[in-house]
Amino acid sequence: MDIQHATRLMERCISPSVQHLQHPAALRLHCRSVSYAAQAIAEALATSGMTIDADRAAVMGMIHDVGRSTAGNARHGIEGYWLAREAGVSSDIARVCVTHMTMGRTAKEAVVAGLLNAEEARRLAEAGIILEDMNLEEQVVGMVDSRVLGGRFVSLEERIGELEKRKGWLSTAARYNLDRIAELATSFEQVLGGSLAQLFPKGDLGLPSSHLSTWRRRRTGQAGAHDRGG
Ligand SMILES: [Fe+2]
Repeated sequence: MDIQHATRLMERCISPSVQHLQHPAALRLHCRSVSYAAQAIAEALATSGMTIDADRAAVMGMIHDVGRSTAGNARHGIEGYWLAREAGVSSDIARVCVTHMTMGRTAKEAVVAGLLNAEEARRLAEAGIILEDMNLEEQVVGMVDSRVLGGRFVSLEERIGELEKRKGWLSTAARYNLDRIAELATSFEQVLGGSLAQLFPKGDLGLPSSHLSTWRRRRTGQAGAHDRGG
């Protein structure tokens, strides 16, 4: 799957025609932001000697939230996986949809956390998907997912502050993921020998201005619009 194909799939799923999506333009910007940031970080990690495919990270970042077209917060990961598979995406790419939510949990732990059901866990096992074995590209996407906001690269603290302000509280499952994300960021920064933020001066992800201006135009009148649902 190339990035054009991934972008088309994302745009088909995250569309203004999907009624329950309150802020599709903001969610599209989020997907593009994760894709851009994941690619840049993967490229930097590759330069630092890691074996990681930056184009694959970009593709995974672009499609990671397609499940939001059919499901709310807890289940959008697993539903995105099925949706991507039905759209012809190979399981080794589609799995990012579910792993960016399970973030290292086993299937059994993911069922307990309410991220998928027992039947889905069985089907994933049958397909040879071992959720806890996240590859590097998935790790980067899972981490970046919580480091972008409004088309910028931000600190985890800023992102947590935004989530707390918007949701009022964070679930145990969300806290688990944020702890895992902090660990991943630390491990990547050790490889890079510097902060992730230095890759994005002033938070600039390098997104084409057309994406930002489209989002800002549509955002007018949408007070409280955010770049992801959580
Ligand atoms: Fe997501």
